Amino acid sequence: MSTMHCAVIGYPVAHSKSPRIHSAFALQLGLDLAYGAIEITPGTFAEQVQKRFQEGYTGLNVTVPYKEEAYVLADELSPRARLAAAVNTLHHTPDGIVGHNTDGIGLVHDLTERQSVELHGKRILVLGAGGAVRGVLGPLLEKQPRELVVTNRTVLKAEQLRDIFAPFGPIHAASMDDLSGTFDVVINGTSASLQGALPNMPATVLRPDTVTYDMMYGANDTAFNAWAQSQGVTRTLDGLGMLVSQAAAAFTIWTGLTPDAEPVMTALRRELT
Ligand code: ATR
Repeated sequence: MSTMHCAVIGYPVAHSKSPRIHSAFALQLGLDLAYGAIEITPGTFAEQVQKRFQEGYTGLNVTVPYKEEAYVLADELSPRARLAAAVNTLHHTPDGIVGHNTDGIGLVHDLTERQSVELHGKRILVLGAGGAVRGVLGPLLEKQPRELVVTNRTVLKAEQLRDIFAPFGPIHAASMDDLSGTFDVVINGTSASLQGALPNMPATVLRPDTVTYDMMYGANDTAFNAWAQSQGVTRTLDGLGMLVSQAAAAFTIWTGLTPDAEPVMTALRRELT
């Protein structure tokens, strides 16, 4: 059996957990996979990707800051990648390089399958309107929420996303000041947690039984989830499960095999704490 070659590609990637995750999946399934981490300086992305695929690589996971470049580079796009306008998974096929986006299904899988959080018929608030949020709105709307509200510090960006996704479900845009009523699920897709900052969201959108989800993760609660807890929210989730589930979906695209994400999830969680 010949070795399959895949890698995560980004800048920086030194701390990426993708090599660990994919190697664990391969081990589980008895697959001979060599999975590396390729750090490339800005300006050489397309050239580096073409080179790897010419060398026989099967797939690449694309991370910050190259998801938009990967979207432009792909010969073909999955419907989800087209809507997201970003690609996190490249697959080298006989027909060319196919671009996928598994971030949104990773989030939805983590919420609905791993955490048993119902999205169908629910009122969902998404904070942020950058690339990370654009990647998840399609799969969230596929779950047919009652309403999905996007709010952002720069409200114009939330309105632009609303216009793009309006054909796919009940999506609205609102400024943080105009949010009304409470939400069943509140998802933080801003990068504020990276700076230890909080999106300036009113606590009135929360109930004790609201589930909050921060697409970031870390050793401790993110600033956003810690704030939600201080407001009386009892169920706060972070993005580690999204990371593992998006990886599992990418692995399936490349190999046709379905890994068991749970032992990998448990091992990563243990290491973080
Ligand atoms: P990403 O790829 O992580 O989505 P991005 O496209 O730069 O990165 O988007 C970052 C998002 O986080 C934006 O919604 C940004 O709000 P603005 O559009 O108003 O810039 C949001 N964000 C970043 N820092 C924030 C902060 N301190 N408070 C509130 N929102 C913040």
